[in-house]
Amino acid sequence: MKQLHKQPSLHHHHGQIPSPSPAPVTKPSKHHHHHHRSFPRSVVSYLLREHRLLFLLAGALIASSFFLLHPSSLSLSSSPLHPSSLALLPSSSIRGVVHGGAGGRRIPVGLRKRPMRIVVTGGAGFVGSHLVDRLLDRGDSVIVVDNFFTGRKENVVHHFGNHRFELIRHDVVDPILLEVDQIYHLACPASPVHYKHNPIKTIKTNVMGTLNMLGLAKRIGARFLLTSTSEVYGDPLEHPQKETYWGHVNPIGVRSCYDEGKRTAETLTMDYHRGAGVEVRIARIFNTYGPRMCLDDGRVVSNFVAQALRKQPMTVYGDGKQTRSFQYVSDLVDGLVALMESDHIGPFNLGNPGEFTMLELAQVVKETIDPSATIEFRPNTADDPHMRKPDITKAKQLLNWEPKIPLRQGLPLMMSDFQKRILDEK
Ligand SMILES: NC(=O)c1ccc[n+]([C@@H]2O[C@H](COP(=O)([O-])OP(=O)(O)OC[C@H]3O[C@@H](n4cnc5c(N)ncnc54)[C@H](O)[C@@H]3O)[C@@H](O)[C@H]2O)c1
Repeated sequence: MKQLHKQPSLHHHHGQIPSPSPAPVTKPSKHHHHHHRSFPRSVVSYLLREHRLLFLLAGALIASSFFLLHPSSLSLSSSPLHPSSLALLPSSSIRGVVHGGAGGRRIPVGLRKRPMRIVVTGGAGFVGSHLVDRLLDRGDSVIVVDNFFTGRKENVVHHFGNHRFELIRHDVVDPILLEVDQIYHLACPASPVHYKHNPIKTIKTNVMGTLNMLGLAKRIGARFLLTSTSEVYGDPLEHPQKETYWGHVNPIGVRSCYDEGKRTAETLTMDYHRGAGVEVRIARIFNTYGPRMCLDDGRVVSNFVAQALRKQPMTVYGDGKQTRSFQYVSDLVDGLVALMESDHIGPFNLGNPGEFTMLELAQVVKETIDPSATIEFRPNTADDPHMRKPDITKAKQLLNWEPKIPLRQGLPLMMSDFQKRILDEK
C-alpha cells in the first residue's frame, strides 16, 4: 500500500507520465482498520488518475494478443505449410518447425539444430519418393540410395538440380560409406509380384541390406529407421493386430522371403540397438496407396484403379471377403517422420484402421473412378492373409499420430497420376 501511494510521486518526479494535475500524495493511515476500509476506493481513484487505467488496459491488450498470436506462429508443423513459405524461413526455424519432435513437442528456438543430412534407401520407390519430398521441403539434405529394381527416376526427377538432393544407384546388398545424421531404410521390393520374382534376392536385400545399413549407422552414429511391415503378423490369429502380437507366419512359404526377411530385419535392428547402442526406430507399415505406386504390382488398390481406368474387369481373388486397411501415403510419411523424431524405438503399427473387404474396395473404386467397372473372381493366392487391420493405439498415444485421409478422399488423389501413366503407356 505504501508503494502504491509513493509511486505516483516517483513517476511524476521523473516526468515519465505527463500529468496535467499532479495528484496529492496521500498520507498512509495510522489505523490499520481504517486503512483496510479505504483500500478499494483509493485503488480506484489511483487508477482513474493520470490515464493509468488506460495504460493498464493497453498493456493487458498487448500482452494477451502476443500470447494469442505467438503459438500459431510456432505450430507450423501441424498446419499444411507450402514449401515456398518454408523457403522464406531461415534454416534454423525450418528445423524448429519440423523437428518439433514427437507428438508436436516444441523445441525452444535456441536449441534448434542445423538441417540434417539424411539417407533414404529405396528413395526412388513409391513411399520413399514421398518421404524424400517431405524431407527436402523441410530443409534437409537427402541422399537417395536405390538400385531401381522397382523404383523409378521419374519419382524423384523433380529434385534434379536441387543442391540438397543426391541420387546414388547402389544395391544395399553391398556396403556403402556415407556421412549422414539419419538413415531411413526402405530398400526392399514391397509388392508380392516383385518380392516373389526373385525370392533369394528379396531375403538378401532384407538381411544383408539391413545389416549393411545398420553397420553404417553404428559406424557414423546415425539414427536408423526400418520400414517393416504388417506381414510380420502373417495370417493373424489376433484381430486387430497390436505390436505385442508375435505373428502367425509360414516360414517356408512363397511369401516367406518377404515376411521372414522383414522379421529378421527387425531382429537385426534390435540386436544392433541392444548390442551396439545404435539409435533405432521400427515402423510396421500396413497397406499404403497413393500416386507413384507401380501400376501392375499386384497390390490390390493399384490393381483395381489401373483396371478400372483401362476399362478392364477388377480381379478379386478368392471370395473377396478378406479384409484390408488402406492408408494414404501422406499419412504414412507423417508417421515415419514423427517416429524418427520421437524418443521411441517401436515397433509401431502405421496404418489406417478403416477396414474394407476386397468387394467393398472394388465398390469404392467403382463409385469414385468408373461406375461401369466390373468384377472378375479368381482363385486365391497361397498364404494370403484373411484379415489385416492395425491397432494404432500405441502410435496415437506415443507419437500423437493418426491417419487423416479416408479411402474415399484418398482414391481420387491418385487418379490423375495413374491416368497420365496409363496414357503414356499407349
Ligand atoms: N507400400 C506398402 O503398402 C508397404 C507396406 C508395408 C511395408 N512397406 C515397406 O515400405 C518400404 C517401401 O515400400 P514401397 O511401397 O515404396 O515399395 P517400392 O517397391 O515402390 O519401393 C522400394 C524401393 O526399394 C528399391 N530397392 C529394392 N531392392 C533394393 C536393393 N537391394 N538395393 C537398393 N534399392 C532397392 C526399389 O528399387 C524401390 O525404389 C519397403 O521396405 C516395404 O517393405 C510398404
